Amino acid sequence: MNRKPIFAANWKMNKGPSETEDFAKGFLPNVEHKTFPCDIVIAPPFVSLAKASEMFGNVSSVALAVQNCSQFDAGAYTGEISGLMLKEFFVHYVILGHSERRAIYGETDEFINAKVLKARELNLRPIFCIGETLEEREGGKLEEVLRRQVSVGLAGLEEKGLGDTVIAYEPVWAIGTGVTASAAQAQEAHAFVRSLIAEQFGADAAAKVRIQYGGSVKPGNAAELMACPDIDGALIGGAALEPSSFLGIIENGTA
Ligand code: PGA
Repeated sequence: MNRKPIFAANWKMNKGPSETEDFAKGFLPNVEHKTFPCDIVIAPPFVSLAKASEMFGNVSSVALAVQNCSQFDAGAYTGEISGLMLKEFFVHYVILGHSERRAIYGETDEFINAKVLKARELNLRPIFCIGETLEEREGGKLEEVLRRQVSVGLAGLEEKGLGDTVIAYEPVWAIGTGVTASAAQAQEAHAFVRSLIAEQFGADAAAKVRIQYGGSVKPGNAAELMACPDIDGALIGGAALEPSSFLGIIENGTA
């Protein structure tokens, strides 16, 4: 099964509109009028979406994402942003269930599931994040945690199907720490996640679904990780803040 890799920049709470413009000026000459053997996605903060869609809206090789969205369409939900609004900014993907949102903002599997279902209803493509903490891994709970995150987080999608949902396996201990899972550790977890998808959605869906790796991906480790059979791209934080290192990951990861 040939799955097109997907490389997504998760800028987190970095880059307002002017820094977004600076990034775009550095990045665009390398991606404009070019075709890539992968999907390239950028997830700026909400306030930089207008600038990002102005800069990248006409660039067919780059798609936009957001880092969160509401499970509702509109109404009295102070501080929230709905998927309906995001569609006006040419947003195609939405990162949901990132470990920082789980850990810092208390997002539960059920809550993330409501957002996943809403995103699919609106034809936004979830980048659905899962991953274990170091304590869970060392306590032998890796499979139990991934199983719960997948079964609850993707519950109810069976009828409509996974569609263009992307899964991001991000071991929490590797995020922003400089510690990367070894290619063997990552491959093992990805193969397990694919087997969970096969149980829940069938073998065909499992063969098609793209599973990204995230956690301290850099130009120097991208090739080794992407060579693993079940790793289909990367979700990148720190190393995607500079055009040259994001490009380096894309180039090395698709070479
Ligand atoms: P990192 O972040 O690349 O800085 O480790 C990845 C992520 O949180 O998605």
